[in-house]
Amino acid sequence: MEIVICPTASEAGKLGAAAIAALLQRQPEAVLGLATGSSPLHIYDELAARCQAGEVSFAQAKGFSLDEYVGLPSDHPETYHNVIRRDFVHRVDFDDSGVHGPDGLAADIPAFCASYEEAIAATGGVDLQILGIGTDGHIGFNEPGSSLASRTRIKTLTKQTRIDNARFFGGDIDQVPTHCITQGLGTIMAARHVVLVASGTAKAEAVHQLAEGPVSALWPATILQHHPHVTVLLDEAAAGRLQLTGYYRETYASKPAWQGL
Ligand code: GLP
Repeated sequence: MEIVICPTASEAGKLGAAAIAALLQRQPEAVLGLATGSSPLHIYDELAARCQAGEVSFAQAKGFSLDEYVGLPSDHPETYHNVIRRDFVHRVDFDDSGVHGPDGLAADIPAFCASYEEAIAATGGVDLQILGIGTDGHIGFNEPGSSLASRTRIKTLTKQTRIDNARFFGGDIDQVPTHCITQGLGTIMAARHVVLVASGTAKAEAVHQLAEGPVSALWPATILQHHPHVTVLLDEAAAGRLQLTGYYRETYASKPAWQGL
């Protein structure tokens, strides 16, 4: 796991965007794993700017979202289907029909989840998965207690996550759905490269656990310690509880340029 501590969240986002742009340059039809939330917004801002400047194209790429609320009407502005389009897909030259996400209104949720796994596999799998992290260490919506081998399925959101996300629902936790469909930890682990971005002091403990804690279902993101290619992009605040910061800084500063992220 590579930890990169940046002066600001914006710098972290620029590094993440550069990794995605480099991937698309070598592989224009790459499959991207897309994450909602505030964490990846700097990545999306930078990619939108690069796309407008003609430096990167998503025209041949495909995307799979991590998760979706269960039961929100399709025209609700906070469905992740709509959020990812507003925050990213419609700001670049992505073909809308090439961007998939869990169906939070599926009549048969287990059957839908199986078909989502098959759809990801049919493309050859995710080349680069963008991730945020919850304050409780969730990735996607894999809350504490999630099976470390889980695949796409329905989950119950924790009260903490619903409190965290109430800001998108007028500050009213009762408006936040209680259930979601999320790619599992096993699904996320199948991505070839994982780029996790986190900023702010609220994420510092989750980031410490992610990189330095024991692998445990209590902090689901810790499963990423078993992944061979994870890049963690942090601002100073999110790095505030890490123990080996000196080593991470030295490692990144002396990294051979050819290595990339
Ligand atoms: C949300 C999403 C995650 C996201 C996380 C953190 O609930 N399901 O994909 O990474 O929680 O959100 P934010 O980036 O807004 O802090």
